[in-house]
Amino acid sequence: MKHISPSILASNMLELGNEIKKIEESGAKYVHIDIMDGCFVPNISFGMPVISAVRGCTDLIIDVHAMIVEPDRYIDEFIRCGADIITFHYEALDNTRIVNAIEKIKAKGIKAGISIKPKTEAEVLYPYIKDIDMVLIMTVEPGFGGQKFMVDTMDKVRKVREYALSIGKELDIQVDGGINDTTIKTASDAGANIFVLGTGFFKAEKTKTAEEILLNTL
Ligand code: DX5
Ligand code: ZN
Repeated sequence: MKHISPSILASNMLELGNEIKKIEESGAKYVHIDIMDGCFVPNISFGMPVISAVRGCTDLIIDVHAMIVEPDRYIDEFIRCGADIITFHYEALDNTRIVNAIEKIKAKGIKAGISIKPKTEAEVLYPYIKDIDMVLIMTVEPGFGGQKFMVDTMDKVRKVREYALSIGKELDIQVDGGINDTTIKTASDAGANIFVLGTGFFKAEKTKTAEEILLNTL
């Protein structure tokens, strides 16, 4: 199933409630919340109060993308604030902590995702794929909205999709960064099925429905 996950990083923070309504009215099922700590990435976005505020005004699936060091320290708190999916970065933890983080997230009954930055190889994810719900292939260097889609990351989408199929795993593959009317098709063709849109959703000239945006993948 294909979905869009609008990223509130590109929204008008002063109007967050209305921006969430805009997502609901588009027919999207997800809202993507980018948590940045100024350490794992060179930018600081927002944290727990924003997740809680969003949870307080919507039933959308809250898709937390943790671009932070030691993401495993915050799992309980993300869940308490209302996360439905927690995606952390492979680069942020060693193997033991990755395994424990997946277990902890799953034990709480929510979905676990692992993300890789553009320079990280797809193969590092293989040992974890059977146990997780989603892989997030970054299509820009994480940290900022409004960057250009890196087409060479598509090889990794293809590899992860192939690997998941080879083990009979139904895996969501999310792409994030520079997704627009054109790049969404490239990513979909490579095997991605969840498309994060920041600029492409909130700064679009004309507000489109999720269905209209997904039509570009056909
Ligand atoms: C970037 C974030 C993205 C960002 C995408 O590090 O992870 O989710 O909001 O923004 P656009 O769609 O503008 O590239
Ligand atoms: Zn993101």
